[in-house]
Amino acid sequence: MCVAGVLGTGSALPEKIITNADLEKMVETSDQWITDRTGIKERRQAGPHETTSTLSVQASVKALKKAGIKATELDLIICSTISPDMPLPSTASLIQRDLGARGCCAFDLAAACSGFLFGMTVAEQFIRTGAAQKVLVIGAELLSRYLDYKDRTTCVIFGDGVAAAVFGPVEPPSGILAHELHTEGQYAEHLFIPAGGTAMPPSCESIAKGAHFIKMRGNELFKVAVRSLEEVSLHVLKKAGVTPHDINLFIPHQANQRITEAVRERLGVPADRVYSNISRVGNTSSASIPICLDECVQAGRLKKGDLVLMSAFGAGVTWGAVLMRW
Ligand SMILES: CC(C)(COP(=O)(O)OP(=O)(O)OC[C@H]1O[C@@H](n2cnc3c(N)ncnc32)[C@H](O)[C@@H]1OP(=O)(O)O)[C@@H](O)C(=O)NCCC(=O)NCCS
Repeated sequence: MCVAGVLGTGSALPEKIITNADLEKMVETSDQWITDRTGIKERRQAGPHETTSTLSVQASVKALKKAGIKATELDLIICSTISPDMPLPSTASLIQRDLGARGCCAFDLAAACSGFLFGMTVAEQFIRTGAAQKVLVIGAELLSRYLDYKDRTTCVIFGDGVAAAVFGPVEPPSGILAHELHTEGQYAEHLFIPAGGTAMPPSCESIAKGAHFIKMRGNELFKVAVRSLEEVSLHVLKKAGVTPHDINLFIPHQANQRITEAVRERLGVPADRVYSNISRVGNTSSASIPICLDECVQAGRLKKGDLVLMSAFGAGVTWGAVLMRW
C-alpha cells in the first residue's frame, strides 16, 4: 500500500479587491462590524471573463510545475466546486481539456467548504490502493456570482479564489496519516441556493425573488461549526496517535476568525501554529484550505516532517479533517 502526499501546490486569486469600505457603499454595514464579527477586511471578486475553470487552470499549471510533472501524467482530476462554470459538463472536464490532460478521468465533487478535504480523501484512497499515481485536486469557487450584494448577511463573508494540489505516492513517514468526513443533511437549509436546480429551475419569477442567491443562517451554522470542527479534529489526531500539542501547523477553513479562535482554544493549539488569511481573502469555500496551504508552502512555513492538521466545515452540512505529515 502506498502513502499519499502533496507533490506540489498552486493558487490563483482574481485581481479585483472588494474592501469593507466598498461594501459600506452597497449595504447597511461598517468596516468595524465586519472586522469585529468576522475578521475579514477584503475579499477578491472575479472579473466577467474569469470563470471557475479558467482560474483553476492557472492554479493547476502552477501546482503541476511545482510537482515537476506534465498534465498528461495525471491519472485523475477532482474539482471541488459548488460554483461550476455551467451545470453540464463538469468543471473538471473543462479543466482537463484546457490543461491538455488527455486520457485521465475527471469529475466534480460538491461538498461546499469541506470539498477540498473530501477531494483529498478520495485522492488518498485512489493512490493508497494503487488505482492512481498522480491526482490533481482543485478547490475552486466563484461565489460572488451567487451573492446578493443587497444582502449584508452573506455578501460581506464570501470571496472568490482557486487553489490546486497534486497528490502522489510519498515515502513514509510523510503523507496523509488520517482523515474523517461527515455529512448531516438535516441542516441542508442552513446554507443553500434555492433556485437554479431541478427543485426550482431558473425562471423570471425565481430571479425576481432572488432565489438564485446564497441564503445563510449564520448563527445556527456558527454553533454547529465550532462543535463539529473540534470533534472531527480530535478524532483524526486520535486515529494517528498524536495530540494537539504535536501539531506544527493548523489550517482551519477560513469561515470566520471567531470560529477559528474558538476551535483553536478548545483544541489548545498555540496561536502561532494556526494559519489565517481570512482578513485578505474572506471565505472562499472549498478553495480556502488549499489557498492557505499554498501560501504556507510559498512562505516556507512548512518543514519536512511537520504535522499539519486541516479541518473544514460547510454547506450540506459537511465537515471533516485530514492530518498529514509534510
Ligand atoms: C454570519 C455571521 C458573521 C454573523 O455574525 P453574528 O455575530 O452571528 O451576527 P448575527 O447574525 O447574530 O446578527 C447580529 C446583528 O447584526 C446584524 N448584521 C448581520 N450582518 C451584518 C452586517 N454585514 N453588517 C452589519 N450588521 C449586520 C444582524 O442583522 C443582527 O442585527 P439585529 O441584532 O438588529 O437583528 C456569523 O454568524 C458567522 O460567521 N456564522 C457562520 C457562517 C459560516 O461560517 N458560513 C459559512 C459556512 S462555511
